[in-house]
Amino acid sequence: MKRRKIFAGNWKMFKTYSEAVELVNGLNAGLKKTEGREYVVFPPSPYLREISSLCASSPFETGAQNMYFENQGAFTGEISPVMVKDCGASLILIGHSERRHVFHETDEEVNKKVKAAITHGIQPMLCVGELLEEREKGETVSVLNRQIRGAYAGVEKSDAAKISIAYEPVWAIGTGKVATPEMAEEAHMSIRAIMKELYGDDIAAAVPILYGGSVKPDNIAGLVKMENIDGVLVGGASLEVKSFLDIINV
Ligand code: PGA
Repeated sequence: MKRRKIFAGNWKMFKTYSEAVELVNGLNAGLKKTEGREYVVFPPSPYLREISSLCASSPFETGAQNMYFENQGAFTGEISPVMVKDCGASLILIGHSERRHVFHETDEEVNKKVKAAITHGIQPMLCVGELLEEREKGETVSVLNRQIRGAYAGVEKSDAAKISIAYEPVWAIGTGKVATPEMAEEAHMSIRAIMKELYGDDIAAAVPILYGGSVKPDNIAGLVKMENIDGVLVGGASLEVKSFLDIINV
């Protein structure tokens, strides 16, 4: 089965404006596009419009790292799906573990954001993953079940096909502790099984599932050769031109 392959960089709350421009120019200059691969950067929202226009004629698409689910209103400090679109972004990260654990975002809010993104024609990249203590208690699959069923509640099958999933075990994010390719593969297979229960074989087989959590140039090769790993979502190593190019040009 040929699935979409997505290689994405999440810049989080890093970079000044001029550093962000330098980074994206370096990426645009050094990318060796592989047929069938999609490339995405998620810059901080103040730079989203400029980074999107710098990527307009390159293979990179852009996405926002977060948004609120209302179109507009008195929601000081938030950005809306309309604004994300207006900045030229085509994707949105939803439910990143830092949103869930630092900002206490719930499965219900994640679900509202997924639906808002679909309404506005923005592709959701849904992040899921367990905490270390949940893994140690053997709760990984039940956490994935809760997060995925929560995120997709009320989402029609035709819309479910627009969503990609990033499996990011929380204990592997920013810690240097990458999941082994086998551990990631096992979790990805569990995610596909949940998707099969929800939407059937065709959606389960087609959904791109990315791995995220301490992806580096020295571990990318082992990850992408796994059958069920359809790309990566990279944090720290996406902040330098060379390390991100070494990952996405693999
Ligand atoms: P990391 O972050 O690559 O720095 O572990 C991944 C992420 O949070 O998306």
